[in-house]
Formats: sequence, C-alpha cells, structure tokens
Amino acid sequence: MVTRLAGAAAALTFILGTIVIGGAWAVGSASEPDRAARLAEFRRPDAIPFPEANPYSQAKAELGRALFFDPILSRDEGRACATCHVPSLDWTDDQPRAMRNDDAPMAVRTPTLVDIAWIERSLGWDGRFRDLESVAYVPITAPANMDMPEALLNERLSAVPRYVEAFRRAFPEAADEARPVTRPRIEQALATFQRLIVAGPAPFDAWVAGETGAVSPAAKRGFDLFTGKAGCDSCHSGHSFTDGSFHDIGTASGDDIGRGRFFPTSTALRYAFKTPTLRNVARRPPYMHDGAARTLAEVVEIYDRGGIDRPSRSRDIRPLGLTAQEKADLIAFMESLSDAGADGPAHKPIPAEPPRP
Ligand code: HEC
Ligand code: HEC
Repeated sequence: MVTRLAGAAAALTFILGTIVIGGAWAVGSASEPDRAARLAEFRRPDAIPFPEANPYSQAKAELGRALFFDPILSRDEGRACATCHVPSLDWTDDQPRAMRNDDAPMAVRTPTLVDIAWIERSLGWDGRFRDLESVAYVPITAPANMDMPEALLNERLSAVPRYVEAFRRAFPEAADEARPVTRPRIEQALATFQRLIVAGPAPFDAWVAGETGAVSPAAKRGFDLFTGKAGCDSCHSGHSFTDGSFHDIGTASGDDIGRGRFFPTSTALRYAFKTPTLRNVARRPPYMHDGAARTLAEVVEIYDRGGIDRPSRSRDIRPLGLTAQEKADLIAFMESLSDAGADGPAHKPIPAEPPRP
C-alpha cells in the first residue's frame, strides 16, 4: 500500500515536473507538500516552559528584572548582567569576546539570551552550567567579572528597603522573614526574568503560518538549502534553530577544546561547542564562541569549506560546493529570522500570567 502510494506520488511528480519546466521543481528543489512538513518543524511553541522547582510569578519576574539591570550586583557597582547581555543588542554585546573588568578579553563571546527558556540544561558554550538558575553566581562572583562575594551581595540588597519588600512579594514564604534576601532566591528571580526573553515573531514565522508572501523567494530557496543540500538543520533544528547540543564544526583550534574538557576520552566532544540559536542572528555579529567570524557571509564560507578535517569534526560537516547564488540564499533565509527588534521584556510591563511566546 505504502509502496503503491509512493509510486503514484513519484509518477505524479514526474509528470508535473515535466510540465512545470523552469519552475521550482525543475531546478531540483523540494516539492511543496514536503516543504510544508519541513516548515512545520520550526513552528513556534505555545508556551514558555517554567520548571516545577521555579514556577512563574509576576513578582519574581519583576524582581529578576530589577536585579538583571542593577550594577549593585558587582563589587565596584560598575557592571550589571545587562552590561554584556544588552537588550538592544539582542541580549549579547558587539565584542568578539566578553570584556573582563580590567578590559582584557575573556575566552569566549557573550551568548545571546534570546529563547534561553528552551535550553534546559548544559548552558554555556561548553555546557558547564546544569540549568539557568545555576548560571548567575558564576559571573556575579568571578573576580574578573562582577567580583561580588555572596555574603556581601546579601548584605547590600538587605540594606535597600525596596529590595527587601520585593523579595517578600516574590517569595510569599519569606513574608515574615527579617532577612528574605538569599542566594537561591536571587538565582530563581533572575532565571524567571530571563525565561521571558523570547524571540518575537519574524517574517519566517509568518511564512510557517501560511503567509506565502512573508519572505522573499531567495529566503525560500535558502530554507530549502538549509533543510536540504546544506544540512544545517541537523544541528540548527526546531523553532529556535538549535538542538541544544555540542558539535565540532571544524573551526576552533588552540587550547580551548570546549565540551571536550569535561570528557577527555571523547573524540567527538573535542572542540565541540553549543549550537547557538539562529533567532535574530543577522542582527548580532560577530559570530561563534570566540567571535572569530565577523559576518554571516564569513560563516557561510566556513561551512562551504567544511572546516578542519579531523577526527572530532561532526559527520554533518563537509565541503558543500555552494554557488554564489546559494550562499546569498542561505543568508537571505537567516535574515528572515529577525523579529521586529523590540527588546522583549526589558521595558514592557511584566504580565501577571506567563506570556505566550
Ligand atoms: C562580562 C560580561 C558578562 C556579564 C556581566 C554577564 N555575562 Fe552572562 N555570559 C557571558 C559570557 C562570556 C558567557 C558564556 C560563558 C561560557 O560559556 O563559559 C555568558 C553566559 C551566560 C548564560 C548562558 C547562556 C547560554 O546560551 O548558555 C546565561 C544564562 C547568562 N550568561 C546570564 C547572565 C546573568 C544572569 C548575569 C548577571 C548576574 C550575567 N550573565 C552577567 C558574559 C557576561
Ligand atoms: C554539526 C552541527 C552543525 C551544522 C550541520 C551546522 N551548524 Fe551552525 N553552528 C553549530 C555550532 C556548534 C556552532 C557554534 C560553533 C562555535 O561557536 O564555535 C554554530 C554556529 C553557527 C552560526 C553562528 C551563530 C552565532 O550566534 O554565533 C551560524 C550563523 C550558523 N552556525 C549557521 C549555520 C548554517 C547556515 C549551516 C548550514 C550551512 C550550519 N550552521 C550548519 C552547529 C552546526
């Protein structure tokens, strides 16, 4: 039955393909029904996931936002989370690598926080953080970053009546506590706010929803390459264009072996870094964990060459032999993933119920 149907479909495609000379099928791109199925794989989800151990509340998200933007979290009050995760720069910065507090570059680039709610575990370029809650105290306490001892931070926040009130509101069980400011509560509030940082709808999403004119013909050809000949979606999969996993794409060299440092006996994880989301990607150069690629055109060249051929390199990375037109199409597709440029929950009122993405 299945074979007979498939045979009939093939025959139909053959006939139509012969008739529609010069149409999309004649240049070998996928058929419309097949493309619809591929598009559906990138449909945006209906709800932001909040973990059971740290459910959403408006008061917690509001407190998290206040903390995220407040330089009181750094010892010299010189930097906040938002110093590097800048809302108007898609929650990253424009430096190849993040700046230490002595102005020397760190080892890696500041990742965007867009769609961070869906990266469930293994955060960081090398996956060193087990969940969103556990990230915050690394930048807060790092001597080269915010340089803030845990006890001093509690003391400082406890001396600000506005914060003491906000902690009591955000954590009802602390309503009667004299000192409601604690590390786990700071972590939970910051994480709750960050889960609201969700990409807004892009032209691509309108196309997924059925608006055929929402993106250019070049972007559509780029999507077919992305999910076809170029095989980008084997790693950049799902609505946020990441599998949340780690791969060596053949670019990194030098001392930083990424995820490999935690798995010294694994070949595949040597030089493996986390697949980044491609939401708003056209707007936030430079690229890669070390900011080594300055433009999307450079990124596409890297994939076209196939990177360094070595045992750790992913089997999904190989020279692609793209034409100039195909490279431009891939870039046009990535450009269709940009939202309207609103800076998400940075300035909008925090809603009572978790918003729909
Ligand atoms: C000096 C700039 C800087 C500051 C300040 C900073 N970060 Fe980051 N952030 C980075 C860098 C660089 C990384 C990547 C670290 C790594 O992968 O080892 C990162 C990673 C993250 C991640 C993981 C993202 C991912 O995709 O896996 C989260 C979440 C995060 N930071 C939140 C925060 C919060 C919350 C604060 C404030 C308490 C903060 N950051 C302060 C630069 C900064
Ligand atoms: C084997 C998995 C894999 C495949 C296939 C793949 N990527 Fe990637 N991509 C990654 C990883 C991992 C990174 C981060 C590498 C790094 O930071 O060094 C990345 C980084 C990127 C970046 C930079 C994003 C940023 O925020 O810095 C872009 C753009 C990108 N890929 C586009 C593509 C395109 C286009 C294709 C297809 C031609 C593709 N990728 C194929 C895994 C993959």
